[in-house]
Amino acid sequence: MQLYIDTASIDEIREAASMGVLDGVTTNPSLVAKEGVDFHERLGEICQAVPGPVSAEVIATEHEAMLEEAMALTEIADNIVIKLPSTVDGLRACRALSDKGIRTNLTLCFQPLQAMLVAKAGAFLVSPFLGRLDDLGQDGMELIQQIRTIYDNYGYETKILAASIRHPLHLVQCAMLGADVATVPFKIIKQMMHHPLTDSGLEKFLADWAAMKKPSNQLV
Ligand code: E4P
Repeated sequence: MQLYIDTASIDEIREAASMGVLDGVTTNPSLVAKEGVDFHERLGEICQAVPGPVSAEVIATEHEAMLEEAMALTEIADNIVIKLPSTVDGLRACRALSDKGIRTNLTLCFQPLQAMLVAKAGAFLVSPFLGRLDDLGQDGMELIQQIRTIYDNYGYETKILAASIRHPLHLVQCAMLGADVATVPFKIIKQMMHHPLTDSGLEKFLADWAAMKKPSNQLV
């Protein structure tokens, strides 16, 4: 499963990239607003830090205006992916951009039929939001399973990007269901390599090693 980071913080992106396992980045208007920086300038910095796909969302809600914004965003770097809402206008813009060979990420996907239509319109990525469905008492993971089945049944090539990930268990379940990508907040990326038994086991190994009587010519 590919791993994207879900943030607009350049420090978090650089730190995650330094781990050597980062495949891409997603941003959204809320994440960029939190940073309080110039959107296009920050996207330029992100695209330099990560060579993989960087999703940048349009703010317009009408498809002609979405296309105008999208064209300006694609000027920033070759790895920009245009994030569009899963609405009828988003679908129209998706088709127009796909026809030009521009990659899109259809976001705010909450039901399998949205995912089916955006695949037909040539989306590169579809972003089902798991956590926000779970928050309402619906099963976000069921949506991943439904989309996986539909895409496999018809050979749709759109990649399933599991979004709105709230905890490591979401990632395990997404990987088992065959999501192609997960976009994950930095805090959870760090949790992925953490287990208390790893820490306590390492501590014990080092303590035993330090307590061992060493031959006089051994350095550590
Ligand atoms: C993905 O592209 C979205 O930005 C993100 O996963 C939304 O997550 P949230 O529901 O935690 O805001």
